[in-house]
Amino acid sequence: MASTISLVVTVVFLTTFTCANPVSQETSNSDHYHQTNFHRLPPKFHHSVDQNDGAYWRQKAQNTLNQKLSSHDLIGKAKNVIMFLGDGLSIPTLAAARTYLGQSQGHTGEETVLSFEEFPHTGLSKTYCVDSQVADSACSATAYLGGVKANIYTIGVTGNVKLNDCSASLNATNKVTSILKWSQDAGKSTGVVTTTRITHASPAGSYAQVANRDWENDAVVKSSGQDPDKCDDIAEQLINSVPGRNIKVILGGGRKEFIPKNVTDEDGKSGARTDGVNLITKWKSDKSSRGSSSKYVWNREQLLNINPRKTEFVLGLFNSDHLEYHLLANATKEPTLEELTRVAIQVLSQEPKGFFLFVEGGRIDHGHHDTQAHLALDETVEFAKAIQAAVDLTDERNTLIVVTADHAHTLSISGYPTRGNDIFGIAGTSDSDRLPYSTLSYANGPGYKKPLANGSRYNISNDNLADVKYRFPATLPLGSETHAGDDVAVFARGPWSHLYSGTFDQNFIPHVMAYASCVGNGRTSCKPHV
Ligand SMILES: *[C@@H]1O[C@H](CO)[C@@H](O)[C@H](O)[C@H]1NC(C)=O
Ligand SMILES: *[C@@H]1O[C@H](CO)[C@@H](O)[C@H](O)[C@H]1NC(C)=O
Ligand SMILES: *[C@@H]1O[C@H](CO)[C@@H](O)[C@H](O)[C@H]1NC(C)=O
Ligand SMILES: *[C@@H]1O[C@H](CO)[C@@H](O)[C@H](O)[C@H]1NC(C)=O
Ligand SMILES: *[C@@H]1O[C@H](CO)[C@@H](O)[C@H](O)[C@H]1NC(C)=O
Ligand SMILES: [Zn+2]
Repeated sequence: MASTISLVVTVVFLTTFTCANPVSQETSNSDHYHQTNFHRLPPKFHHSVDQNDGAYWRQKAQNTLNQKLSSHDLIGKAKNVIMFLGDGLSIPTLAAARTYLGQSQGHTGEETVLSFEEFPHTGLSKTYCVDSQVADSACSATAYLGGVKANIYTIGVTGNVKLNDCSASLNATNKVTSILKWSQDAGKSTGVVTTTRITHASPAGSYAQVANRDWENDAVVKSSGQDPDKCDDIAEQLINSVPGRNIKVILGGGRKEFIPKNVTDEDGKSGARTDGVNLITKWKSDKSSRGSSSKYVWNREQLLNINPRKTEFVLGLFNSDHLEYHLLANATKEPTLEELTRVAIQVLSQEPKGFFLFVEGGRIDHGHHDTQAHLALDETVEFAKAIQAAVDLTDERNTLIVVTADHAHTLSISGYPTRGNDIFGIAGTSDSDRLPYSTLSYANGPGYKKPLANGSRYNISNDNLADVKYRFPATLPLGSETHAGDDVAVFARGPWSHLYSGTFDQNFIPHVMAYASCVGNGRTSCKPHV
């Protein structure tokens, strides 16, 4: 007790001393790197007084210790595998998103846990590509779905295929198949779910092989100087080729990639195809010619009315382009990622041999590219809800769930904001120019604020940082904020999830999923000595 009191007295003394002598850093314990005399704003949310007590933290840590000591590694066969991909879900995005979630529930926020942060195993994935220090969603999809690193902007092909090299991509030795295909070959049902166009790079990594990720329809193949009769676009591959045409559940956006220019969709939007082919009609006729029950849906109500026991194939396209951000969407029209995930699992669970499902929270990336951190963090929370739905609908003894990101972004959480400070708020005031700065900022992007005519830094105090579309400040101007080269986290639960520990190359990820579920040509838990 006596030592506690003396410690408190010492802290008070030092604080008073440094405040009274703001320039005498050499004579105080406040160093140049970590000044303790800065002005901090009062928090928006307050932590409980219990947290001032050492017992609170000791108990919390002991609970975690007990939980870890009572858990054991699962080594059975994974009947089902669900891979969740947060596009651009960098490690700083995790802390920012959990704080946002907690604060939206009236808590300080920092202590909040996103659903997948409760998973027992985590590792770090190195995301560089064959020819690029920083990944895009195409080469990274080839790695985390196909198990092979590739060149930037290419999907489902090896590093022998350069960007736009249509003929090299047709060479069989350069093609890379994905765990979705391996799972189909093992008799499992498969599904792809995303909030972006279903032909966008990440989902395309599960079924397409292209020398340019932009080849989402035939018109783009043509405009990049290639022959669409030789190199099929991504939408065409999804509907006409293997494994695309055998995928049981396809849910996302991007209707325009599937219909001709002179045809309008359910929202009155024109298609993008110039080959006159309506791939939605083609999908329907293919399924009925195979004698399969199938449903094409384009809004939330139709999706929720699907009878999973009576529907073998589902194609759901809910927007001409990407699905709208959750915060901006018409909720009666567009389903949430959680709803999409639930329907997918219910339909795929009908297969006794199990399933492989890929689910992408695709617009975290878009929020970051626009430095609209509020949108990016909200999409991350929606992503976490979808993962919770998967946890609720499956059994960890037979279902491996892997959550990861394709690449990072340049978001930073900085300054020394008080505990419970609004995550979208001001962290403090610069000691150089006496102007405020926000907790969230980016290394580059459209949020860049031009200095004033007299050279003074832009004063963000007059901005509405609470606006969900606010563009957070960036150090240098760029039309679109860039990806970042940091490692990304992998969270896993279920059979063999403990193999995702340590730091590894991103292309290791599907090798573990294949090992656990006994698919593919490599070593598996069913055939350990290949
Ligand atoms: C296919 O690609 C491989 C590897 O790049 C190469 O060795 C081979 O010559 C190519 N075949 C043809 C027909 O181009
Ligand atoms: C669209 O154009 C094609 C020819 O390019 C034609 O065959 C088709 O009938 C047209 N469809 C509509 C709805 O106008
Ligand atoms: C939302 O979508 C529904 C169904 O399409 C429509 O009836 C309603 O008018 C839309 N609401 C808004 C605010 O646009
Ligand atoms: C620069 O101009 C702004 C706006 O007129 C003013 O508020 C600010 O004090 C000026 N800064 C300096 C360093 O003169
Ligand atoms: C920044 O703007 C706020 C709000 O208008 C104002 O109170 C403050 O004085 C400004 N700071 C500087 C250094 O001009
Ligand atoms: Zn991106």
